[in-house]
Amino acid sequence: MKLFQTADYDSMSRKAADFIAAQIILKPDCVLGLATGSTPIGTYQNLIDLYISDHLDFSRVKTVNLDEYRGLSGDDVNSYHYYMKENLFQFININPDNTYIPDGTDPEPEEMCARYDRIISRLGGIDLQILGIGRNGHIGFNEPGDVFHVNTHCVDLARRTIRDNRRFFPCEADVPRQAYTMGMGAIMNAKKILLLASGKEKAPALHKAFCQPVSPRVPASILQLHPDVTVIADFKACEELAPFLKN
Ligand code: GLP
Repeated sequence: MKLFQTADYDSMSRKAADFIAAQIILKPDCVLGLATGSTPIGTYQNLIDLYISDHLDFSRVKTVNLDEYRGLSGDDVNSYHYYMKENLFQFININPDNTYIPDGTDPEPEEMCARYDRIISRLGGIDLQILGIGRNGHIGFNEPGDVFHVNTHCVDLARRTIRDNRRFFPCEADVPRQAYTMGMGAIMNAKKILLLASGKEKAPALHKAFCQPVSPRVPASILQLHPDVTVIADFKACEELAPFLKN
């Protein structure tokens, strides 16, 4: 794992956007794996700025999102479809036909999940997967458990995740209890992975992910087995990454 420490959230966001921009410049028709949550919002804002200042062209870029809440339609302000439109897609020249997000309302979820994996395969896999990290070490919505799930699947959200994401909803009862998430297969098959983290509340999760043995109890720990992982995190999130800070 390669670690870039930054002073704060804003510099993390700028560096992450530059990293993603380099990928798009090197391969204009690349497949980006996209994340949601509060962490990448600043990164997306910087990508929008690069597009507006004519430094970046998304016309051939394809995107696959990590996850979506079960039961939320694309019009729902809390859906990840809505999030992507509001925080990135509507401001750049990406072709909506080239953007993929699991469908939270599909009446046949198993078929939807299998189809999602087929889409990712048909695109040739992911060139650069962007990840945030949950405080319990989840990536996408791959929650702590007994096994790593390979394929796109439906998950019961962990209590802690429901509590953490409550801030986006009117009240805790409104937070969906289930979600669809890309599995570890597509994430680990990505050619490159970029994980972003900001704030001291993410420090224990980063420690468990990178300084302790690989375990499905800490889903992000599987990234130790990936050959090309870059972490861009601010100082506060890096507080417990001692082995990497020495180098
Ligand atoms: C959410 C998303 C994840 C995200 C994580 C952290 O539940 N499913 O993809 O990385 O939780 O979110 P945040 O960046 O808001 O801390």
